[in-house]
Amino acid sequence: MNPYPHLHKDCLHKLDWDDQARIDDISSHKWIGYPRAIEALKKCDDIFRHPRVSRMPNLMVIGRTNNGKTEIIKKFCQRHLPDPNYLGEAIISPVMYIQAPPSPNEADLYVEILSSLYERVPSSSTSAKRAKVINVLKKIDLKVLCIDELHNSLAASSIKQQQFLNTLKYLGNELSISFIASGTEDLLRATSVDSQIQNRFEPFLLPKWQMTKDFRQLLRTFESITPLKEPSQLHSGLMSKKLMALSEGTIGELSTLINKAASFAIRNGQEKIDTDVLSKCGYIPPSDRTRDSVIGL
Ligand SMILES: Nc1ncnc2c1ncn2[C@@H]1O[C@H](COP(=O)(O)OP(=O)(O)OP(=O)(O)O)[C@@H](O)[C@H]1O
Ligand SMILES: [Mg+2]
Repeated sequence: MNPYPHLHKDCLHKLDWDDQARIDDISSHKWIGYPRAIEALKKCDDIFRHPRVSRMPNLMVIGRTNNGKTEIIKKFCQRHLPDPNYLGEAIISPVMYIQAPPSPNEADLYVEILSSLYERVPSSSTSAKRAKVINVLKKIDLKVLCIDELHNSLAASSIKQQQFLNTLKYLGNELSISFIASGTEDLLRATSVDSQIQNRFEPFLLPKWQMTKDFRQLLRTFESITPLKEPSQLHSGLMSKKLMALSEGTIGELSTLINKAASFAIRNGQEKIDTDVLSKCGYIPPSDRTRDSVIGL
């Protein structure tokens, strides 16, 4: 029988650790497969399995900052790690991840792709870089190019946005590859201008969290992986309302808040999170992080 039913069985042994080891564990990276993330991963897998055709499907994971877009894309990439292919000429990497370049510059996109494969970047023209990218991506048998934070490349005039999106369209057609991009609403807006782009990129929305069954389940899961000896009942009415209000509905803020509160509790010899710990742990909600409120004016 589990003497600590609020904890997952894989977390129980951590209760024997000293305080600092538990605090270190609390801030370490953990993945929670909440329903919307699982759905997004399924969409990514559908894209991955799609046969090569002349017009490949693409996906955009859209959400506000700190709401789990990168985590989903990285999880998908981890499921499709490259094969070193020691006996062949090049690695086989059907999925690759890049960060979008910070401006809508075709050459910068190629530099990003080649450097993430540790390939030499031709110093000459954009067309030389493009030719090398096409050649290398064919060699590694790329199927899906994940571009994180694509909205960053599109913070420009609408002409430049279109040129950059046309570059993606060109690469997609030339290589018969799909794109899985992430971005904020700005990405949705930029891609809706051109109907050819719009109907090739399916949006998948990661909305702000609401007070639903899924949110309470998320709180239970966070509690079950946080090594505190007493139950905090994070999913209960009062606690869940307070957690939702403070974190303002993003999973990143929620995770930061729970981790800060749990570490504060351990440091103060308390083995659970309650409303008092939430108020005293030093967490500042995102909308209070203006300069004036931080310096107390
Ligand atoms: N599936 C998950 N399980 C556990 N924690 C998660 C999960 N997804 C996100 N988080 C938490 O939220 C934080 C922010 O997630 P992520 O970096 O994916 O957000 P984002 O939407 O890409 O934000 P930005 O737009 O600012 O890049 C993560 O560092 C992690 O703490
Ligand atoms: Mg991100």
